[in-house]
Amino acid sequence: MLPALRGQDRTQPPGEPGSRRLPKLRCRGDTAVVTLSRDELARLQRLRGIFLDDDLARAARTDYWRDDADLAAYARMLAPRIGWKWQAALAESRARGWRRTDQAVVLDYGCGTGIAGRCYTAAFGAGTVLCHDRSPRAMAFAAAALRQAAPGTAVHPASDVGAVRPDVLLVSHVLGELDADGERQLAALLERSAQVLWVEPGNRQCSRRLSGVRERLRGTWHILAPCPHPGACPALASADDWCHFFAPPPPEVFTDGDWVRAARELGIDQRALPYAFLAATRTAPSSAAPPHRVLGRPEVDAHQARVRLCTATGVQHATVQKRSAPALWRQLKKDPATVRNLP
Ligand SMILES: C[S@@+](CC[C@H](N)C(=O)[O-])C[C@H]1O[C@@H](n2cnc3c(N)ncnc32)[C@H](O)[C@@H]1O
Repeated sequence: MLPALRGQDRTQPPGEPGSRRLPKLRCRGDTAVVTLSRDELARLQRLRGIFLDDDLARAARTDYWRDDADLAAYARMLAPRIGWKWQAALAESRARGWRRTDQAVVLDYGCGTGIAGRCYTAAFGAGTVLCHDRSPRAMAFAAAALRQAAPGTAVHPASDVGAVRPDVLLVSHVLGELDADGERQLAALLERSAQVLWVEPGNRQCSRRLSGVRERLRGTWHILAPCPHPGACPALASADDWCHFFAPPPPEVFTDGDWVRAARELGIDQRALPYAFLAATRTAPSSAAPPHRVLGRPEVDAHQARVRLCTATGVQHATVQKRSAPALWRQLKKDPATVRNLP
């Protein structure tokens, strides 16, 4: 049974709960249409206020999903943006050797509307997906959405994950909401997991916390992506640095009037989808790591592009001259998210 949604038939993005069509098995949100009602805008403004609070862990200590309409509004406008980050992280993980997991038990921790589980299942498959959240309403919503998106996958809400040993642990935009206790619980779950894929906002604070998780894992886990080396995180060496990337939104968000209006109303910069991520496994990856990973966004002027690179010996700077490498300079200018490594 789907969560009850009101008055959204015309504009509901296919694949989200409440859609009349059964979606295909892929991570939706990439073409979502978002004609938002006043009520939905107000709900999203309230949620963004909570998410952007500087002291989020304190602000968000109680369940902020008041009803299914809160989740539905999030699913239409904010979850797709997180989905685009997941698509970027999943693509890079695949390129670094992450394999299909069709029989796996996948646990989406802090699932919210379940966008991480849907994106993951569409990309790599799953035998069973467990949707865990402190909010029972969110678990039910996410499970319903995933059942629609992936009818062949067993899906269960899971309020108690104390005994679960996931083959794949997914974490998405949760770290900033966890206090020390929550972080300890998640660390214990991580101990029982075989693989983890974790996506967080690309701001300094969240990214550095995620790098801290990586530091704790790297003795016993293999860090698959985005890191080009297994050593200490160079971004943590300087207080001003953080490991982050920018996911490309689909072009429709700039041309579709609904997206443009909704983003303006909510004060969302459509160009910026900063994210940090971590893909780690217990078994050694089969593919070799690249020599470096481009960080952040290049600084591009008429003659050159300046790029920051994560390497085994620290964060380094490189310059790409337009005169000697015009195609690469243009790619860094027009499509920087597609450049993970320099030749
Ligand atoms: C910002 S939302 C992100 C939802 C979803 N993962 C996504 O990426 O769209 C954070 C979610 O974490 C859940 N959450 C916060 N603290 C939690 C905890 N200690 N245990 C389980 N879930 C938690 C919240 O209820 C919320 O659904």
